[in-house]
Amino acid sequence: MWKGRFTQDTSSLVQQFGESVSYDWRLFPHDIAGSIAHARAQKVAGYLTEEEFSAIEAGLLDIRADIEAGQFEFKTSLEDIHMNIESELTRRIGPAGAKLHTARSRNDQVATDTRLYCRTQIDALVESLRGLQRALVNRAEAYAESVMPGYTHLQRGQPVTAGHHFLAYVEMLERDASRLLDARKRLNISPLGSGALAGSTINLDRHAIAAELGFDSVTTNSMDAIADRDYIAEILFVIALCGVHLSRLSEDLILWCSAEFAFAALADAHTTGSSLMPQKKNPDVCELTRGKTGRLVGNLVAILTAIKGLPLTYNRDLQEDKEPLFDSIDTLHLTLAVNTEMMLALTLREDVCAAAAADPMLLATDLADYLVKKGVPFRQAHELVGKAVALAIETKTPLDKIDLTTISEHYGNDTGEIFHLKRALDARTNPGCPNPRIVREQIARWQKLLSV
Ligand code: ARG
Repeated sequence: MWKGRFTQDTSSLVQQFGESVSYDWRLFPHDIAGSIAHARAQKVAGYLTEEEFSAIEAGLLDIRADIEAGQFEFKTSLEDIHMNIESELTRRIGPAGAKLHTARSRNDQVATDTRLYCRTQIDALVESLRGLQRALVNRAEAYAESVMPGYTHLQRGQPVTAGHHFLAYVEMLERDASRLLDARKRLNISPLGSGALAGSTINLDRHAIAAELGFDSVTTNSMDAIADRDYIAEILFVIALCGVHLSRLSEDLILWCSAEFAFAALADAHTTGSSLMPQKKNPDVCELTRGKTGRLVGNLVAILTAIKGLPLTYNRDLQEDKEPLFDSIDTLHLTLAVNTEMMLALTLREDVCAAAAADPMLLATDLADYLVKKGVPFRQAHELVGKAVALAIETKTPLDKIDLTTISEHYGNDTGEIFHLKRALDARTNPGCPNPRIVREQIARWQKLLSV
């Protein structure tokens, strides 16, 4: 493609080192769509005849069909997807193919293809996220009123319902989806026409090209448009963060499925056995979700590091953007799919959860609230309950069996009701609380939003 200036062929080691077609081949539908839009603009501007345009369009569509059918031979000697397609087009249709690259560079071409690819993938990822959200809402509904301890510092804190716990993850995933859609808005502008870095003296209608490709608008600085990989960094950040959310969910499930907690069980289909220990049932999907998150974070660091030292505009380093991008997108797709399936089959051991939540210590804060309602300042109430807790531990007596009236005159004979779990949950009437009524309202809200 650049033989004019050179007297030597590219070394085969350099070809091996520099090729990207082994992975960027997957940009082909976008590369072809971009080329057709670009060719159409050339026709409108008078640089291609009607016949030449038709030959280019038909040739590109044939190539697309061949790639889809697995009948296209990619050549690493042609470096990347762009040159593979262009060279094959010219081989097939002759001279018209040689006109396609007018007023275009691989620099604006790759930026266009990658933006189109990201746009498509964002839409698919948001769909997958919705799927996992629906599965979580499904479990939340099944266990809307199942009480369990809520933890801070992995120490029992206060009672919650399992429904509330599942919905916490629905919230996180909602933010991830909204971040992806936000990134989508920003990336959906056309860089085509930016050329190698400074546009072209051949002025094609950039807006028409953008409209054909479904872009909202065109980029407004050719140098920025060529050098910009922010959209990749943004997507990799959102994917890394989503991975972190899924990793935390995994960690909860790993704990819940341990003999020590025994709060939940995964289906056999979503666990693995041990080759040595016959009794084992391992939560490998959760562990792999947690483990793969390391790679998602690594991919974000890789792109940020690749960009940080680059002068404007294009530098070949930028070719290193694709492998982390593709890897993170593929990994998140599969992670979401397997977690969705696993979540739908998760069963909660409600009896074990209820027994753990029956620990009256979980309502020590409610007891302090009781004193506050009697007019005791909170700090003093905290101390008075602390004393009761210490006595309970010392005398090995459950907190609800301690005679509180011996500790302070502020305790009346009505403290018994504080230790009713249902009352404790029902008493939390503010938005966002684990009150089963509110949890049910939230489930209904999510079902509507996710069109369950
Ligand atoms: N394969 C290249 C990439 O992904 C396409 C752009 C090449 N541009 C160039 N000037 N060598 O970055």
